[in-house]
Amino acid sequence: MARFSNGPDHVRRRALAVEELASVDADSLQHKAFARTDAIVAGLDVVDVMAELARPVPVGVLAEALGLPDVSADVVPVAAAYHPHVEPDPAAEAALTRLIAACGGPAELAAARIGLLVQACDATAGLIGNELFAALTGKPAEQPVLATRRRIDGEDVTVSLAGTPFGAGPRACPGSRHARALAAGVLGALRGFRLTEGEVTWVSSPNLRMPAKLRVTRGGTARGLC
Ligand code: HEM
Repeated sequence: MARFSNGPDHVRRRALAVEELASVDADSLQHKAFARTDAIVAGLDVVDVMAELARPVPVGVLAEALGLPDVSADVVPVAAAYHPHVEPDPAAEAALTRLIAACGGPAELAAARIGLLVQACDATAGLIGNELFAALTGKPAEQPVLATRRRIDGEDVTVSLAGTPFGAGPRACPGSRHARALAAGVLGALRGFRLTEGEVTWVSSPNLRMPAKLRVTRGGTARGLC
């Protein structure tokens, strides 16, 4: 996929991903993310936003908009394992095999689709988690993706993203509008929710700053999202 390719391979693979994304109307993503979130929280008193909404909803909505089945259950483990420094476990390998089949078989187009879904997964979850945490606590929202890893001449290189949340230059994120629309939809459906008394835990990664768990519940007198 584009993210870990260089030179002409990067240009060609990125163009495929950008073309796929161009078929998706960013505004309709917001409405769909709102409706899907609303349906999930309707039956729940307490919801862990990170596990139940912030990853599966944007990925599921984006997959559907790309004409794919809801593959979010397979994208989540693949997103956690696809970095060059992580050794994928058999469960992630099995999820990837299913994902390749769902995305049209082993070809660059399937890789482009998987790249879009995998890139959307943790980053959009971070956007949602950090914005919700900020809205519910009054603290400033933090940048979710602090650094990115690239593979250059077979070596893993870490590149700081300080001050550029969506990157810059020829590798800048092509999904920023889509990500913002998806996040706005999920957050819109959580109006009136507040943090539970439980502690918020944070992902332990030098490259990501986002909650690992963010449990919210309806109503009450504490500060809520409005
Ligand atoms: C719908 C959601 C999203 C999609 C479909 C998406 C898609 C992508 C793709 C395909 C790339 C690779 C571009 C390339 O290799 O040329 C990328 C890169 C990137 N994305 Fe996103 N993304 C999404 C959400 C986000 C969010 C929420 C953030 C940050 C808050 C983000 C930050 C970045 C950054 C920093 C890069 C550059 C990585 C690098 O320079 O190595 N993305 N994105």
